[in-house]
Amino acid sequence: MALPLPIFVLNGPNLNLLGAREPQIYGHDSLDAIKTACAARAALYGRSIDFRQSNHEGVLVDWLQEAAKGACAVVLNAAAFTHTSIALHDAARALRLPLIEVHLSNPSARESFRHHSYISPIAHGVVAGFGLLSYLLAIEAAHMLAGAPTQTQTTEEA
Ligand code: DQA
Repeated sequence: MALPLPIFVLNGPNLNLLGAREPQIYGHDSLDAIKTACAARAALYGRSIDFRQSNHEGVLVDWLQEAAKGACAVVLNAAAFTHTSIALHDAARALRLPLIEVHLSNPSARESFRHHSYISPIAHGVVAGFGLLSYLLAIEAAHMLAGAPTQTQTTEEA
């Protein structure tokens, strides 16, 4: 049976610490709670998600390359790599899929080293500053931009 391709939700360094890490900035939701909320929101639209986190830049590059074949859209919180990584910029540029940059906090309202993003110039859009809601809005945008689920994978591959 054919299934629509999932929305990849990719998370960068230190986001595994959410809930405990600077809750006054990032909120009290754990990454697991965000994953559950994203899956529920995607399910409302008849979509699934593939939700991942890594502290390693190269792993995130690998996942962006994988998304080109295995996803209908990508929601990316590259965390600190947002502000440093030409490798992620290049991988995202090669993606040719709807790409939504997401942040829990609003980097533009924080330290100046967070004001530049290597992802924004190639993202379809950016959602930032709304905590968990940033992710849910990004899922909605990914769903709308991905259009009707035409690309599929078989259940054997799923
Ligand atoms: C972040 C913002 C980044 O500047 C920071 O390095 C993070 C999290 C956010 O979601 O608000 O780790 O991407």
